[in-house]
Amino acid sequence: FYVDKGNFRHFMQKEIYEQPDVISHTLSSFFDMANGRTRLPRGQEVDFSKINRMVLSACGTGYYAALTGRYYLERYARIPCDIDVASEFRYRESPLSGVDFALFVSQSGETADTLASLRHAKAEGLTTAAVVNVDESTIAREADIVWPTLAGPEIGVASTKAFTCQLTALAALSVAAGVQRGVLSRDDELTLAKALSEAPRLTNAVLKLDSLIERLAHDMATKRHALFLGRGFNYPLALEGALKLKEISYIHAEGYAAGELKHGPIALIDDTMPVVVIAPYDRVFEKTASNMQEVAARGGRIILVTDERGAASGVVKDAELIVLPDMPEILMPIVYALPLQLLAYHTAVHMGTDVDQPRNLAKSVTVE
Ligand code: G6P
Repeated sequence: FYVDKGNFRHFMQKEIYEQPDVISHTLSSFFDMANGRTRLPRGQEVDFSKINRMVLSACGTGYYAALTGRYYLERYARIPCDIDVASEFRYRESPLSGVDFALFVSQSGETADTLASLRHAKAEGLTTAAVVNVDESTIAREADIVWPTLAGPEIGVASTKAFTCQLTALAALSVAAGVQRGVLSRDDELTLAKALSEAPRLTNAVLKLDSLIERLAHDMATKRHALFLGRGFNYPLALEGALKLKEISYIHAEGYAAGELKHGPIALIDDTMPVVVIAPYDRVFEKTASNMQEVAARGGRIILVTDERGAASGVVKDAELIVLPDMPEILMPIVYALPLQLLAYHTAVHMGTDVDQPRNLAKSVTVE
């Protein structure tokens, strides 16, 4: 089929802007919006109460979605989760005793290492499920259970809308699992479903910050290195933000759990180092705030992605702020992904790199 860029300059930009719609589509396959209950796609139901321990695996951006999925599944459904990148999982010879369920995340459904890991898990007798975007892919065919993301065709090599749809699916699945496992009450389910139904509106609101982020990107484009920090639900996002920037702008970027700052990356901080901190005013905000003070004391330049309450806390005096609306925690990874995508996008555009086809990268890695 033929997909065009419409009025957008790049496929990546178009795909960033499609997110409110495709997140909404993806949500509709996991929720019955009319009554606020979770609902797994027909024929793809699982009895989550029977799962003893789960392993998650994927590659690239899908891996960061899976890492967030682990936070969701542990928090909302109390499912013990192991996680590994697929290229390690398949060779690690990990004893899988006690693990009865394997969940794979893939946009293309063709990534060689993810497919090999799926086959390994099946051979070990685990039930396999895949959160996958291409429904006619090998992974979709071979997994016992398929939970589709409805992101539509993603052309830009750097994944954007597939990522937020993967997060959406994983959040919804964790709510469904939490209800079945008796961790969440009917009221909790309604509250979380209502929160998730706000994702299209909130992602749309973030797109309005585009020109502010573009201005910050002009400065980023003059840098050689960047650090991304986040805690808790926003730690995987720090990794994804750094990946996005390095993939398309070729600026060396590293993502770290904010608490690890002291264990190495703080040595890199000086007044030439931009530090992107993803810190909404959540239960770990104060901890991340002290990391920011450590960065500021060493002259590091902070770009703080936060919410109204985080901005009002005045934690760092001269940080550049990207202020998002206040929102429930379950939504944060989904919505906070967008400013990071826009920052990478505008930085790359400003530098004149090939945004949709970055050097040396492939959309789907079908060789090992
Ligand atoms: C490649 C792509 C990434 C993607 C990764 C995993 O590296 O460039 O955007 O995240 O493969 O691909 P998958 O299709 O399995 O999600």
